[in-house]
Amino acid sequence: MIFFFSGTGNTRFIATQLAQATGDRLIGIASAVLNNQYDYVLEPDERIGFCFPIHGWRPPFIVRDFVKRLRLEGYHGQFCYAFATCGDDVGLTFDYLRDDLLAAGITLDSVFSTIMPETYNFPFIDQVDTPESARAKIDAARERLARLMPDIVGRHRGVKQINASRWPRTNSRLLGSFFVKHWVTDTKFTVDADACTRCGKCRAVCPVGNIDCSDGNPPRWLHNGLCTTCFACYHHCPTHAIDFAGRTRGKRQYYFKD
Ligand SMILES: Cc1cc2nc3c(=O)[nH]c(=O)nc-3n(C[C@H](O)[C@H](O)[C@H](O)COP(=O)(O)O)c2cc1C
Repeated sequence: MIFFFSGTGNTRFIATQLAQATGDRLIGIASAVLNNQYDYVLEPDERIGFCFPIHGWRPPFIVRDFVKRLRLEGYHGQFCYAFATCGDDVGLTFDYLRDDLLAAGITLDSVFSTIMPETYNFPFIDQVDTPESARAKIDAARERLARLMPDIVGRHRGVKQINASRWPRTNSRLLGSFFVKHWVTDTKFTVDADACTRCGKCRAVCPVGNIDCSDGNPPRWLHNGLCTTCFACYHHCPTHAIDFAGRTRGKRQYYFKD
């Protein structure tokens, strides 16, 4: 089984490719959390995969919370791997995940990552890729995935194929904790009601059901405690009506379209 979380589709693409190559079933972490589903039965020879984007050089908090509550009936040391997608590098992400899994009684055997198009628009700079650089990154990721696939299909343990950070501790511990504390919040999203066409796309793509657009109103964030600031709402808005922290208007948008 492959547990995955994806905001803008990069990780969904990787998880889907993994599912096709392995024949393993896909389980969405966001739907599982929304449905309070933490109990799963594992087959004797089944792989366990975790796929997610890097957020602030850590796993998104929804992934960590899910893992901490996960109960896998039938687990007796089956091959367990994680595959992260990132804009640049992963910091100590897999150390955090390894510890969370260990607390749930599961050993993380191998870890992988690949660069995919950037989806975070940091308030002061436009990090999101141009269409051309996004395409080049996706092509490179396809090739990397093909190279990594045999280790996953073959259940090879002890493999570490990651996009390492230069200063992983500074990134994940110092910057990561600042990021999680101050920037992972739905309170910084606003909508330009004049530009909004009430199409409801933002509500449809929000992986955690945190947006209401009922009665023909512009989006209203529900503050349900599950927003990871994945930016799906921002990137999918056809009129670019959604802004984050007053800093992203006019900046680039991207979501995985293949
Ligand atoms: C809130 C947020 C934080 C991010 N933090 C990082 C980071 O610390 N390091 C990095 O390399 N990429 C970071 N990214 C980029 C994403 O990890 C990357 O674009 C990923 O492929 C997005 O996957 P998705 O489309 O499945 O959501 C961040 C993106 C978002 C939205």
